[in-house]
Amino acid sequence: MDEAPERPTPDLAAAAKRLASGGVVAFPTETVYGLGADALNPEAVDRVFRLKARPSRNPLIVHVTGPAMAATVTSEWPTAAERLARAFWPGPLTLVLPKHERVPGNVAGGGPTVAVRAPDHPIALALLFEAATPLVGPSANLSGAVSPTCADHVRAAFSAEDVLVLDGGPCRVGIESTVIDLTSPTPRILRPGIIGHARLAAVLGTPVEQHHHRDHDDSSAAPPSPGLLKHHYAPKTPALLIDVEELEDHLEDALDDGVRVVVISHHLAVQVDDPHELIRMPGFALPYASALYDALRRADDLAAVRILIERPPTQAETDEDTAIWHAVHERLRRATAPR
Ligand code: TXA
Ligand code: MG
Repeated sequence: MDEAPERPTPDLAAAAKRLASGGVVAFPTETVYGLGADALNPEAVDRVFRLKARPSRNPLIVHVTGPAMAATVTSEWPTAAERLARAFWPGPLTLVLPKHERVPGNVAGGGPTVAVRAPDHPIALALLFEAATPLVGPSANLSGAVSPTCADHVRAAFSAEDVLVLDGGPCRVGIESTVIDLTSPTPRILRPGIIGHARLAAVLGTPVEQHHHRDHDDSSAAPPSPGLLKHHYAPKTPALLIDVEELEDHLEDALDDGVRVVVISHHLAVQVDDPHELIRMPGFALPYASALYDALRRADDLAAVRILIERPPTQAETDEDTAIWHAVHERLRRATAPR
């Protein structure tokens, strides 16, 4: 991840041509890779739902170049949207607004709203300009699986499919964008990301409803954001969140049971002996977030009986880092939800 490998410059003209004919192009963003298709072409959008095996009620994010394109897919562009877009776009913030009628119903999962964001990645922005159309871009993984943070993750999921993958290297942020609903009386965070409550409230100058942990299982009628299902971001191996003081006991229990575990830890002092495995994590909030999904995938690949994830901090020196840890904890809570 440290060295920038030589990557061919993606052929954006070919990618745009594919999008124009209803095809699917996976593209890098600063958060995770997206599975792109023309947001104004309902058949292309359907293709994305099918590729991901995504429930049709779970709406897709529409990626735009900026406020001007966002205004073409929304029927209202309130001051709050303008303020947030000016402050944070291009960047990892998604705004939920009333949907313009030109946006096909399947994009919105049949609902009256649409989620929009301008991604902060040169390849994503260049693709949007070249295609000259808004693009749906759900995370480029099968529904319920861990989001992809490099091109190989995407290729692994869709190698058998007709998906063009644009390689932009590893994602800087590594966890999905903050989603804020601007259609409720008080703006409300639906999904935490690295842009936290304090920064949003400061820019808006009005209260913002925090994201609350709510468990939604797939049977619940209408979660506030349909994507917020309990088992999102889940590795295949059962995973457990533990405190560092509990680690020794867990490792001994595993030995007694004759099973192998993988430990994911950000503590430099932690040592793990054979046959167990250790995946070391950075101790800082943003590097931790950007390494998280790759760590979960590598842990899965080690084919252990369980994954023990050492609980990261919940507080940091700055509001920014505290918000990132909060967003990380939200992913860890889902990754370790009992199933
Ligand atoms: O960082 C990201 O947002 C990435 C990159 C590729 O842009 N995309 C992403 O998309 O995470 P996806 O589809 O995996 O997650 C979109 C989330 C889901 O939780 C979905 O339910 C929610 O946003 N969402 C989409 N449209 C919505 C709407 N109209 N109202 C409420 N929630 C919505
Ligand atoms: Mg997703």
